[in-house]
Amino acid sequence: MRSKKFRDKTSGKDKLVAKDDPQSAYAESFRYIRANIDFSGIDNEYKAIMITSPDPDSGKSLISANLAITYAALNKKTLIIDLDLRKPTIHKIFPECHSSYGITGLLKDVLKADEAIIETAVPNLAVLPVGITPADPSALLNSEKLKQLYHTLYETYDCIIIDTPPVMSVADAQTISSWVDGSILVVRNNYTKQENAKKALKTLHAAGAKVIGTIFNNTDMKMRDYYYGE
Ligand SMILES: Nc1ncnc2c1ncn2[C@@H]1O[C@H](COP(=O)(O)OP(=O)(O)OP(=O)(O)O)[C@@H](O)[C@H]1O
Ligand SMILES: [Mg+2]
Repeated sequence: MRSKKFRDKTSGKDKLVAKDDPQSAYAESFRYIRANIDFSGIDNEYKAIMITSPDPDSGKSLISANLAITYAALNKKTLIIDLDLRKPTIHKIFPECHSSYGITGLLKDVLKADEAIIETAVPNLAVLPVGITPADPSALLNSEKLKQLYHTLYETYDCIIIDTPPVMSVADAQTISSWVDGSILVVRNNYTKQENAKKALKTLHAAGAKVIGTIFNNTDMKMRDYYYGE
């Protein structure tokens, strides 16, 4: 995915190329990714896909959103689940989502599923945001209730895209990778170190993840932050 046109550092809602500019080369790159996923899943369908990256700020959330839109465009009943319980952003990308709705409300029985899951303006696309950021994300992630919820959603939707935290920061992506059918690692041009990409792959494989492939996010966003962080 090339970035020249989308260099500002907003939440990403103005960068939903798959929705707003479906004829563009940017949107086409998502259809290409979808086709590759579908092709590699000929024998085993990839119905639930986790998107992760070695490091933060690699484009996981934006890619999750655009890829989900691309699946929804095929008339597949699609759901994005924000399982970045530490730094949720999917609700910022989809203005239909109110930040207080979501997984935490659902698991605490404050909300019903049809209140927590938000139908977006994109036909066939719903979003399950995090809601109130949980105090103990690991406990929530490893809870039986969340696993049950995931299994119910898996039966309800044709396609599930899960946004997660970076592999090198916390173990969440490893946990989630053991539930889903396939995982995708996002690496960012001139940002992700080869060493970290290798480590992240090794970590995912050690967790038993089926890594479908890698998305190369060709963007120069936040380069200053990167160099300052060195
Ligand atoms: N290809 C791109 N071109 C331009 N901007 C991009 C591109 N990909 C992502 N961005 C922008 O970079 C920032 C980080 O992207 P995003 O939030 O998707 O990354 P992330 O990997 O989910 O980050 P985190 O690890 O913090 O969850 C956002 O402002 C997003 O809109
Ligand atoms: Mg993110």
